[in-house]
Amino acid sequence: MSIIKGVILAGGTGSRLSPLTKVTNKHLLPVYNEPMIYKVIKTLTNSGIGDITIVLGGESVGDFVRLLGDGSEFNASFSYVYQQKAGGIAEALYLTKKIVEGDKVAVILGDNIFENTFKSEIEEFEKTNAYQCCLFLKEVKDPKRFGVAELDGRNTIKSIEEKPKNPQSNFAVTGLYIYDENIFKVINYIINKIGYSKRGELEITDVNNYYIKNYKTKAVKVDGFWSDAGTFDTLIKSSNFIQSVLKKE
Ligand code: G1P
Repeated sequence: MSIIKGVILAGGTGSRLSPLTKVTNKHLLPVYNEPMIYKVIKTLTNSGIGDITIVLGGESVGDFVRLLGDGSEFNASFSYVYQQKAGGIAEALYLTKKIVEGDKVAVILGDNIFENTFKSEIEEFEKTNAYQCCLFLKEVKDPKRFGVAELDGRNTIKSIEEKPKNPQSNFAVTGLYIYDENIFKVINYIINKIGYSKRGELEITDVNNYYIKNYKTKAVKVDGFWSDAGTFDTLIKSSNFIQSVLKKE
């Protein structure tokens, strides 16, 4: 089992999916045969991560805990943190400081559905000092919806722009991020020096740009399916993908 800790960010209101999210949380909605969050947990556990902190928000906390328990059903150990009010990915991650500080951490957004698992990337990150951050890119048709990587010729990331009007590439930064032990120092710097964006969020893109500029960041291109599942279209796209995988088995 990996010594890298896992964090799942499952706060947020899921307003883009209303009224499906009126009385429950986005991450509890089905992606074909399982609640969305099961798929995300399995991305971490199948990559060798067993010590997982889940950041929750809103009014469905009891449902999450009833569904997921202590993690033993997933051969994992779960801790829970409550986010009072949505303030962005970096803010949600900062709430796990007391549990995670001092360790390397793999962070995944609770609505990101991946076909691949990332065992080799996690194992390499555990051992190496050659880079301090690992980001996962996926070529997409609609980059404007995402954080978009500007790449140089050798596939290193020069910078990331959040929801750009004129994207520098078709490579979206997916919602899986691996950081070294400096992560909370970096978020603290973003809180003090950059602050919240126009959309009222402490942006993970600012954190990633800090790592790109001040440390070394590795970019991994994801070859299997990837989608967020936070809109009607991407929710059904994710369900259809899982259905097609299960039909082949
Ligand atoms: C967030 C990040 C964005 C990333 C995306 C992946 O966007 O800010 O950089 O590409 O997740 O799902 P949001 O879901 O907050 O619009």
